[in-house]
Amino acid sequence: MSLPAVILVGGQGTRLRPLTERTRKDMLPVVDRPQLAYTFEHLRRHGVRRGIVSCGYLPTQIEERFGNAYGDLALEYRVEDEPLGTGGGIAFAAQGLEDTFFALNGDSLREADLDALLAFHRERRALATILLTPVADPSRYGLVRLEPDGRVASFLEKPRPQEIDTNLINAGLYVLEPQVLELVPAGRAVSIEREVFPALSERGAVYGLALPGYWLDVGTPASYLQAHRDVLERAFRTDVGDLLGSDFTYVDPTAVVHPDARLVPPVYVGPGAVLEGGVRAGSVAAIGAGARLAPRAVVESAVVGARAQVGADTHVEGSILGEGARVGDGARIAGLAVVGPDAVVGAGNELDHGVRVGAGQEIPDRALAFA
Ligand code: GDD
Ligand code: MG
Repeated sequence: MSLPAVILVGGQGTRLRPLTERTRKDMLPVVDRPQLAYTFEHLRRHGVRRGIVSCGYLPTQIEERFGNAYGDLALEYRVEDEPLGTGGGIAFAAQGLEDTFFALNGDSLREADLDALLAFHRERRALATILLTPVADPSRYGLVRLEPDGRVASFLEKPRPQEIDTNLINAGLYVLEPQVLELVPAGRAVSIEREVFPALSERGAVYGLALPGYWLDVGTPASYLQAHRDVLERAFRTDVGDLLGSDFTYVDPTAVVHPDARLVPPVYVGPGAVLEGGVRAGSVAAIGAGARLAPRAVVESAVVGARAQVGADTHVEGSILGEGARVGDGARIAGLAVVGPDAVVGAGNELDHGVRVGAGQEIPDRALAFA
């Protein structure tokens, strides 16, 4: 039987500015499609056919892009008058559900066997089961301490350093029984992590399970680049990975790649992109739709957004150019620099050390250099 899924899409994504100045975080493109598409794809792969998108505020960009379905995953939108928090958002969106359902954060990438998670949930007769994943630093997440049988002993959202005694955290995906919603008070914002899970763990009714697979929280420029690397390297299964094939190279049929340009896999070249002579793209390069790389430009471990332009002899390494960004000739963009959408970086500039150029901002020729 196919379970419905409630997908939470409420948060802001301030650590990804300036990329998120015009695009909400969950709609930022990863290679060729919004991040949220990977979440929908994962649900589809595991047989989910009904997605209820729980929106803390107007989901305009999401609805415009996805409408009422993503392939065979039907989509509905439930919009809160005021953001209700993660618990309140799930309860509001899940109104009317009378049986077991999935609920998940829409801001991370994951691949895990949801059938195995559900089987575990049923075996334990749990009210809630949390998918867990190990991370190096749990401080930004929900730390989950387990009993030997998988019961959650305690759930600590954003633990303090001295509280960290396990590397297992909440991967932001749950199997829930509708009774859990009775623990969510109406009329105010409620955090499932800070209120509902601690209450359930006291009753011994919430379980956690770490499964092999893939998990990445896409919240910073570094993790945004990592997401591209992992999709292009096929660290987990995606439709984009399938498109890349066994040579890890995709060139859209409408792209124009000069015979003297060099593609180093993994590499993705989107529709209408133009790569001139002497260009090197890759390894790990995502060149967005309609982007232009002038002669001898180098793009390595980097993202060039849709319609962005890279000048002649310019190097973009370990960095991100937002959609429509333009970089002049002979520039060097490196070290996790982020050029915001439609920003203009003049010729001969050097950006490094995580410098961020705001959306639409302009930097004159040869204005910035790093020793
Ligand atoms: N509908 C709705 N309403 N959704 C919301 C609201 C709201 O008021 N507030 C947040 N969300 C959505 C966010 O868009 C995101 O998809 C999800 O709920 C989690 O909220 P975040 O604000 O991103 O929380 P976090 O990243 O600090 O922590 C959460 O995710 C971690 C894993 O990435 C927690 O669930 C942690 O326990 C977890 O480890
Ligand atoms: Mg988050």
